[in-house]
Amino acid sequence: MRLDVVSIFPDYLAPLDLSLIGKARRDGLLDVRVHDLRDFAHDRHRSVDDTPYGGGAGMVMKPQPWAEALAAVAGSGVEGARPRLVVPGPGGAPFTQTMARELAAEPWLAFACGRYEGIDERVYEFAAQDLGLEVSVVSLGDYVLNGGEVAVLAIVEAVARLLPGVIGNAESLVEESHEDGLLEYPVYTKPASWESAPGVTRDVPPVLLSGDHGAIARWRHQQRLERTAARRPDLLHASQAVAGTSDDVLTGFDVATATAADAPELLTLARACWVTEGRDNASFDIPPLVESLDDVVEGLGQWQTWTVRAAGRLVGSVRGRRDPEDPATWQVGRLMVAPDLQGRGLGRALLAHAEAAAPADVTTYWINTGRGSERNQRTYRRAGYRAVPGEGSHPGTVDLTKRRRAASS
Ligand SMILES: C[S@@+](CC[C@H](N)C(=O)[O-])C[C@H]1O[C@@H](n2cnc3c(N)ncnc32)[C@H](O)[C@@H]1O
Repeated sequence: MRLDVVSIFPDYLAPLDLSLIGKARRDGLLDVRVHDLRDFAHDRHRSVDDTPYGGGAGMVMKPQPWAEALAAVAGSGVEGARPRLVVPGPGGAPFTQTMARELAAEPWLAFACGRYEGIDERVYEFAAQDLGLEVSVVSLGDYVLNGGEVAVLAIVEAVARLLPGVIGNAESLVEESHEDGLLEYPVYTKPASWESAPGVTRDVPPVLLSGDHGAIARWRHQQRLERTAARRPDLLHASQAVAGTSDDVLTGFDVATATAADAPELLTLARACWVTEGRDNASFDIPPLVESLDDVVEGLGQWQTWTVRAAGRLVGSVRGRRDPEDPATWQVGRLMVAPDLQGRGLGRALLAHAEAAAPADVTTYWINTGRGSERNQRTYRRAGYRAVPGEGSHPGTVDLTKRRRAASS
C-alpha cells in the first residue's frame, strides 16, 4: 500500500519509521512518502496561510500550495492511478474500525494535514473535481487537535495493521475490540495466581485454565457483551443492551419455523447475504446465489429452518438437520443476517438457536463456509468451532466442527 502525507511539519510523521509500521516500510509492505507543503509555496516566506474572509479568529490554509501539492502527489503514480484523499478534520465522519477496514482495501491513500483554522474549502472541490480524487473528511473524535498529523498517525496505524503481513500473528486481529461491534474480552497471562501484595493473590478466571475451548468461547463472548454494555452501551443493539446470553439478542425479533410461504423472501435474503461470500471467494457459483425458488422450497423440506423478522421484514435465517451420513452430527447452514443488521451478534444468536434445536443424542455440530469467508470463520471460531483440516465438503470451502457440551446435571 502506498501512503502520501502532506504536512507543514513533516518531522511530525517520524513515528511512522518505528515499530511495526516502520518494519512494514522496511519490508516493502508500506510505501510511505511524506511531503512538506511549504515546498509548494513560492513566496519569499513560503507562506501557506492567510486571514479568513468574513473575519474571525485564526488563519486559513491557502488554496494554491495545497492544489499544487495534491496535484503533484496525485500525478506521481502509475498511469491512471489515483489515491483516495483523506483529510483529517473534527467535522468529518468518525474514524472507526469499519472505516479502517475500508481504507485498508485501498491501494493508495493520500493525507492532507490541516493546521490553523483548516484548509480553504475550495481545495476539497479542486481535489474531487479537477484531480478526480475521492475525498473523505475523517474525524478522530469529538475534540479539536492542533493539526491533522496526530490523526494521520492514528489512522495509518489502525489501517496498516490490517494489511496482510504487517502483524506477525494475523490471528491476533480476530477477536479485537470493535471487530464485530463489541469490545474485547479481558485478557490474562502467567502466572495463573499472582501475589499482588503479601498474602493477596489475584487469580485468572478458572474457565481459562479448563482447556474446554467451547466453554472459553462462551465465557469470552459473555464478557464482551457485559463489558460493552458497561462501557459502551451505545455500541449495543437495543435488544442486546439488556442481553446476557446470545439467545437474548433475538428478543424483540419474531423467530419462527419457516414454511414454503417464506421461500421467496429467503431466496432474496440469501442473494443479498451471499454476494459478499462470492466476492470473498472469487466465485459466484455458490448454491445460495444460484439456487432456484424450487431448490429453496426443497431445502425447507430437508432442513429445519427458522426465520427472524423485525416488524414483518425478514432479517435473518438459519437451518439445521441431522447429517444424513452421520446421525451424531448436527449440520447448521444458511446462516444469514440482513447486511444492515450485521455485526450486532444476531449471527451468533442464530447459530446458538440452531444448535439448541439439535436432538439430545447429537455429539457434534458442523458448519461449512467458503475458504475465503474470513468473517464467517471468525464468527464460528468465536462460537467454539474449529476448522477441519483439508478441503471442505464442497470445493473451495472449509468444514468447521464443535463438540457438543455435555448437559450439566
Ligand atoms: C485547530 S484544527 C481546525 C479546527 C476547525 N477550525 C474546526 O473547528 O473544525 C486544525 C486541524 O487539526 C486537525 N484536527 C483537529 N481536530 C481533529 C479531529 N478531531 N480529527 C481529525 N483531525 C483533527 C485538522 O486537520 C484540522 O484542520
